[in-house]
Amino acid sequence: MTPRKIIIDTDPGQDDAVAILLALASPEIDLLGITAVAGNVPLPLTEKNARIVCELAGRPDVRVFAGCDRPLSRPLVTAEHVHGKTGLDGPQMADPTMPLQDQHAVDFIIQTLREEPSGTVTLVPVGPLTNIATAFQRAPDIIARVREIVLMGGAYFAVGNITPAAEFNIYVDPEAAKIVFAAGVPLVVMPLDVTHKALTTRARIDAFRAMGTRVGDMVAAWTDFFERFDMAKYGSEGAPLHDPCTVAYLIDPSLFSGRLINVEIETGSELTLGMTVADWWGVTDRPKNALFIGDIDAEGFYALLAERLARL
Ligand code: RIB
Ligand code: CA
Repeated sequence: MTPRKIIIDTDPGQDDAVAILLALASPEIDLLGITAVAGNVPLPLTEKNARIVCELAGRPDVRVFAGCDRPLSRPLVTAEHVHGKTGLDGPQMADPTMPLQDQHAVDFIIQTLREEPSGTVTLVPVGPLTNIATAFQRAPDIIARVREIVLMGGAYFAVGNITPAAEFNIYVDPEAAKIVFAAGVPLVVMPLDVTHKALTTRARIDAFRAMGTRVGDMVAAWTDFFERFDMAKYGSEGAPLHDPCTVAYLIDPSLFSGRLINVEIETGSELTLGMTVADWWGVTDRPKNALFIGDIDAEGFYALLAERLARL
């Protein structure tokens, strides 16, 4: 089976880090590059964190690119309250020694989509959509060449996590999200509706620690830190491990279920800015532009995660 060529666009973020590790541990995935974007923490930290994760996986060869340092037309909103000041709070991590690529992330996305055969590259955004939207604006010819976009973002029945109406990744750059959701590229959306069903329970974190590897220890330490915010906020028994749901879907889509529906992005109202308005019941005739995922086999997801991370 030919490995799936992907670009992960990311704002690490402990959960982003686990998504990157899952991709690097899985033979089904051919990670062409990692493009960092400002989101959870500012860009200098997200690009540094992406390199820290690659080195943790023993993969200093992976190409990491820095992208947009702010949303298309708004000030940056960050989430240190969730991820800590570094974005990878929990364990102490040494600074990376692997290089950051000189090329801008947006130029890498454009060049890769133009050079790879059309319909073979999948974009996996797990942060604000600024880099993807900028690439589409700067080079509209690449849009038809994208095989699929599998993104973490949005919320409908689960409602918002940064405002009552909006999920963080969409909220940070709603204009970028509007561009991506309207581009016509086949879209798989992993909203809070599904990620909140993939909680880091004590047993699941213990399984990471029981690996006896540095990767297992780091993932356990990250999730220990990351979950404190969500457990206090939701009173849940763990935190939603958002971003790895995208990579897990590419490896085993049978772990997930959803509905092909219309999803539009609110950009006009301050009250509901960044809301993913999901026509789950088909009450409009708006185009069905997104496979909106609502359910997950959480046990199967964590079994896949543990099995793959143990390989690193
Ligand atoms: O709302 C969850 C999303 O925001 C995740 O991608 C997390 O990493 C943060 O970026
Ligand atoms: Ca993220």
